[in-house]
Amino acid sequence: MKTTALIAAALLAGAVPALAAEDPIAVRQTLMESMGGAAGLTAGVLKGEIDYSPAIGKAAITATAGVAEAYADYFPEGSDTGGNTEASPKIWEDPAGFAEQISKLQAATAGAVSASGKSGPADAEAFKAAMQPVLATCKSCHETYRLDD
Ligand code: HEC
Repeated sequence: MKTTALIAAALLAGAVPALAAEDPIAVRQTLMESMGGAAGLTAGVLKGEIDYSPAIGKAAITATAGVAEAYADYFPEGSDTGGNTEASPKIWEDPAGFAEQISKLQAATAGAVSASGKSGPADAEAFKAAMQPVLATCKSCHETYRLDD
């Protein structure tokens, strides 16, 4: 239980101060760092570096679903430059295309949430199966909408 709580906290910790700062670039980057955390956790479980438990799996999946829900709100006009953003201008040039990637991400995370049931995917295999569609969205969106990827 202790490990689970620590990992869940690590996935979410970064988001709070950035949200308070109301800097859309910082917020969206922090949200993506949670995605990176969830992807890293999945890799760690699959390599056997992290002992799997259903609660850990559920925490990671819940974090990706939270990001998917919030993410599109942090691309207001004028936030295409500034900070150290890697957001591609295509997000603002082709909002429909970007919205489609967001929808795909939301569908994948919603699928993972329902696959994880009440107490999380039962074992590492079930966790991997639930996360795979979510992980498939990363490259597809980054290819077009994130610079230098
Ligand atoms: C809907 C599009 C989209 C999807 C899906 C997506 N990303 Fe991103 N990601 C972006 C964009 C855009 C940026 C750059 C944002 C910026 O710098 O302002 C980014 C940046 C990042 C960053 C860098 C964050 C930082 O600190 O600057 C990481 C890490 C990341 N994504 C991981 C992931 C992972 C892992 C997944 C899949 C589980 C994923 N992303 C799915 C659009 C997406």
